This record gives sequence, structure tokens and C-alpha cells, in this order.
Amino acid sequence: MAQRIGILTSGGDCPGLNAAIRAVGKAAGEMHGMQVIGFLNGFRGLVEDQTVKLSDQQLSGILTNGGTILGTSRDKPHKMMIDGKVRDMTATIVKTYKRHDLDALVCIGGGGTQKNALHLQNAGLNIVTLPKTIDNDVAMTDRSFGYDTAVGIATEAIDRLHSTATSHGRIIVVEVMGHRAGWLALEAGTAGGADVILIPEIPYSIERIAAAIRKRAREGKHFSIVVVAEGAMSVDDATRVANLVKKKASARTQTAQHEASQRLAEFHERHVSHTIELTERLEKQAGQESRLTILGHLQRGGTPSALDRVLATLLGTSCVLALVQRKYGVMMALQNGQVRAVPLEQVAGRKKLVPANHPLVQSAKMVGTCFGD
Ligand code: F6P
Repeated sequence: MAQRIGILTSGGDCPGLNAAIRAVGKAAGEMHGMQVIGFLNGFRGLVEDQTVKLSDQQLSGILTNGGTILGTSRDKPHKMMIDGKVRDMTATIVKTYKRHDLDALVCIGGGGTQKNALHLQNAGLNIVTLPKTIDNDVAMTDRSFGYDTAVGIATEAIDRLHSTATSHGRIIVVEVMGHRAGWLALEAGTAGGADVILIPEIPYSIERIAAAIRKRAREGKHFSIVVVAEGAMSVDDATRVANLVKKKASARTQTAQHEASQRLAEFHERHVSHTIELTERLEKQAGQESRLTILGHLQRGGTPSALDRVLATLLGTSCVLALVQRKYGVMMALQNGQVRAVPLEQVAGRKKLVPANHPLVQSAKMVGTCFGD
């Protein structure tokens, strides 16, 4: 009997999602005669039973397109806003899966999606996942698709900012995405020759950054490019967060735990605007006019790079091989150039961060890049 599989995209969109949908759809449908049903808007599509048939016609011509033809959302199966209330919709999702008589469900997403996928696997569904994110922070895979395109976009932006920074003799602070990881800032900053790179894994001191910029000015370099990961933090803020995390972990009562969580959430909410403050303080402390550019969702839009198309195709088709073997509860990962099926338990709830002694950090330091440490 031909297998019936569902597929969805969840979490923030990124370039390469359509390439992955196409790879799964074509390899499953045309090569293995499976029936492929697309669920719309992430896990919500399973709750509301919003589907689309994925035949050759829908899969054709989408390889190079950004976004996702399935739509996406950040909805979690066990905490979904329904009629103004947060509800656990796991049972409804299981019912939809059974009603469609599915053999398996392919979930394409980042770290959050891997957690949600494990939750559904534990609820009795057969799950295979693919890692996508511009943050490159999914555990157990060397790369996730979407990341390479974002590095390219951010690098081009840094290149363009260089000429205007030089012309005006300014500091230009460039905020890039990355959530709590510094991969995107590190790679784009290195590729773009940033003078300063700030990442969450290496807390910074403004005094050290200002001193590095002043030194450049003394050497006749009257401009500086400062690439900042959105999650980067000063030493003081990093200590504050570490204390709150400790407090939350050691809380004896639910109220104390709730309070620590609340304070952490408030911190991260305030932290969203930290690059504005950083830019103003650098202007004062380094004594140079400063400007801020926030690249934001630009980094997630448009055509995927060749590498992301290739990675999405490789992981997508490998996922179908896993489905043929009925190998479930796994994420298809790239490890040392090989595709491996990694148990979801080893991925969910973990983040791949930049080790402070990563070779690229060392190499950037060796060409004079300041990390503020
Ligand atoms: O995880 C991908 C990502 O783009 C992060 O880099 C960023 O912090 C976040 O999503 C933004 O999310 P949203 O698009 O929901 O604002």
C-alpha cells in the first residue's frame, strides 16, 4: 500500500523552504508513489484541517522562490491560541492525522519546531523533521538551510555600508538576526570585514569597543563597521541574565519561578532596542558620528542561495529515504558532509551556540576584529 504523508512548515520563514517541500514532494510522490498532503500555516493547519494537495503542478517552479507555499506560523501544538484562549490542541492534531490516514508527518522548522515535533512523536505520530533557520542554531546539524542565504544578504549589506561609512567617517552599527546565537553575525561580519563583531556567546564591554575604534582613528582609519547579533549583550546584562536563569532554576515555589520567568521575559523585551543604546554610547565614547542599520526580515526574504537549494534538496530527498524505511522520530542532519538521521530527543530543547574559542572567532581576532572582550 502506498504511504500517505503530511508535510508542514513551521516557525519563521526562510529561503529554501520551497526547495525542501519540492524535494520531499517530488521524491515521495513521483519516485515512491506516496500521496503527499500539505498542511497550511504550521501546526495550526493540522488543528483546523487546512490542507492542500501537493502534486507535480504545485511543486513545479518553486525551487528558486523564497518563503513557503504552505505558509507558516509560530503556533505550538500544546499551547495554541484558539478563540482568545491558550489551549492544548495535541488531541485534535492526532485526530486530524488519523482522519487523513497518514503514515507519517514531515515537519520543516527550526529549534522550536523540533521540540513540537518530538511532542507529537510522543503523542503517537510518526515524525521526520528537516532543520531550517537563518540562525544556524539547530543542534546536531552542521548547517540548516536558510542560513547561507542570510549570510550572503547580510554580507552584501555590510559591503554597501562600508562605502558610506568611509565617505562620512562614521561608525555604522549593523544589527543582524540570529536569535540567541551569533553564527550569522560571526560569518557575515567576517566575510564583510567588520571591525567589531558582537555575539551573544561573548559578552562585550563598550569601553573596549570604543578603545578599538579610537585606536583605528589614530591609525588614520576614520570609520568602523560594528556588526551586532540581535542577542549580543554587555557583560553586565549577561550577568543579569545568568542570575535570573539561576534564580528560575533554583526557585522553590511556583510563584518564585513565575516571577523569575517574568523578569527574564521583561529583560528580553527591553533588550530588543539595545543596538540603539549601543550606537548612542559608541558615538559618545569613541567620539565619532554613528548610525544604526537594522537588517531585520530582509535577511529572511527572497531567493535562496545555490547552497541552500542544494542542502534543502539533499535533506528533503534523504527524508523520503527515511520514510521508505519507516524510520521515524528523527531529524535529517548534515554532519561532516554526510546526511544522518538524528533522534529528535538529541535535538529538541538544545541550541547550537558559537563556542567562544571557535576557529572563526580566533581567525577574525587574528585579522584585528574586536569582539568587545
Ligand atoms: O529564528 C529566526 C528569526 O528570524 C530570528 O533570527 C529572529 O529573532 C526571529 O526569527 C524573528 O521572528 P519574527 O519573524 O517572528 O519576528
